[in-house]
Amino acid sequence: MQIDHLPNAAGQLDAIFQAFSDLLFVIDQEGLILDYKVGNTQLLYTTPEYFLGKRMKDVLPLDAGERFSNALEQVKNGALTSALEYSLSINGQTRWFETRLIPSLQSQIIVMVRDITRHKLAEERSQRHLKRLAALHSIDLAIASSLDLNLALSVVLNQVTTQLNVDAADILLYSPQKNILEFTQGVGFRTDALRHTRLSMGAGYAGMAALKRELISIPNLEYGKTGFVKSPKFSEEGFFSYFGIPLIAKGQVRGVMEVFHRSALSPDIEWLDFMQTLADQAAIAVENAVLFRELQRTNFELNLAYNTTIEGWSRALDLRDRDTSGHTQRVTDLSLRLARRLGLTESELVHIQRGAILHDIGKMAIPDRILLKPGPLTADEWETIRQHPRFAFELLTPISHLGAALDIPHYHHEKWDGTGYPHGLKENQIPLYARLFAVVDVFDALTSERPYRPAWARGEAITYIRDQAGKHFDPGIAMEFLAMIEAGQR
Ligand code: C2E
Ligand code: SIN
Ligand code: SIN
Ligand code: FE
Repeated sequence: MQIDHLPNAAGQLDAIFQAFSDLLFVIDQEGLILDYKVGNTQLLYTTPEYFLGKRMKDVLPLDAGERFSNALEQVKNGALTSALEYSLSINGQTRWFETRLIPSLQSQIIVMVRDITRHKLAEERSQRHLKRLAALHSIDLAIASSLDLNLALSVVLNQVTTQLNVDAADILLYSPQKNILEFTQGVGFRTDALRHTRLSMGAGYAGMAALKRELISIPNLEYGKTGFVKSPKFSEEGFFSYFGIPLIAKGQVRGVMEVFHRSALSPDIEWLDFMQTLADQAAIAVENAVLFRELQRTNFELNLAYNTTIEGWSRALDLRDRDTSGHTQRVTDLSLRLARRLGLTESELVHIQRGAILHDIGKMAIPDRILLKPGPLTADEWETIRQHPRFAFELLTPISHLGAALDIPHYHHEKWDGTGYPHGLKENQIPLYARLFAVVDVFDALTSERPYRPAWARGEAITYIRDQAGKHFDPGIAMEFLAMIEAGQR
């Protein structure tokens, strides 16, 4: 390119300003507009000529005009540059501008005006986006951390009204038994007009949303046939626009979320998407609550079934081994009393109770001729008897539900000094429940009649327990047991 093809200095500036700024004004020290360059006439609310000879602050809205005067003062006082932001309504649209003042030659000041509307909108959008993400996160937390459906739904509804900027919202839950939608939670209502809403599938807007599994949008509730009963109370609410969104989780309609506004709404895709996302969250909360309720019921039924089974087994054993009848009940009661004295919690007591009831369940595998033998046992017979804790373990292990209760049938013949069976465990290797139970079991066995010997006197049994503390028994537990027995005697 040849040098004489370059524009002159002024022309060059023109080109630069056009490329870099949307509007340019040259003003004097008083703010009077001396000249202008307009890159984009769309950014002016009138013709460019209109501005000539006017004071800059007078062609701006009042507030922006004042801030402009301040910026001008700063530049006059020697600042290298000064800037302000403001918005203007141009052809019915809000536009944002950033205006920068730069001192120039001959005490003139260049005013560069840039349209930053796109930037502003993007910023607002990302702010809104962030807020919505935060809202979704808080809902996730509420759903995950709370088994209380009403709490989770009220978190969702509060986010609906704040993030979507609407006046009111509610959730109607679908009851499959009654085949109706019922009001459960609402925010933003002035009256209780909708509190008692009960709609059949297909009835009203909400019933229609649920039946058709579609968003129902009523931009103006006053026009046409409204689905709402025209009660004075509902009119008092003054609602104008309405949305009904079906709550669908895993293909099942769980309810309807309703959104109400007291004036017109002109939602964009983003808004509608977010409303749908919030409805999806509500559907998940409802789904979780339904699953949880079912799980609770199943658990309860399983518990009942286990307890019944366990008691059945133990009764069968007592029937067979007549001489120990009543033994199971007594050792269970005594174990629970001792466990309470030792400060165990209620949930631990449940294990101890089950374990005590089942402690000799392994004897079901011992033949009568051994179990009911009136005299001493042979080595072989004794070997068979010693298997009863193992049998119990094998029998009960598949019932995962028993958990630590199994320690009692499995380890109740272990001894503190390590000479017990089936594993020869020592001291604290022996699970606590089994150490506790062993004391109770031997005490009750000694004071009861057996096919192989008569019952011992109570005093003799107490002496035996004291003697075996630290040998057969955990000494601390044995002492606590004796204290309990002796206190009970007085
Ligand atoms: P069990 O009769 O319920 O006795 C439980 C535990 O109480 C016994 O566990 C033992 O530690 C203690 N115990 C019971 N009776 C006596 C006794 O007369 N003297 C002493 N020092 N301790 C006693 P052990 O010894 O592991 O026995 C487990 C089970 O084996 C007994 O349960 C019982 O069903 C059976 N058994 C034990 N010895 C004999 C016996 O001589 N004849 C027969 N037929 N069965 C026996
Ligand atoms: C209600 O949602 O409370 C009534 C719904 C309707 O009539 O559409
Ligand atoms: C309904 O829309 O079904 C109840 C509202 C009212 O009673 O007005
Ligand atoms: Fe036993």
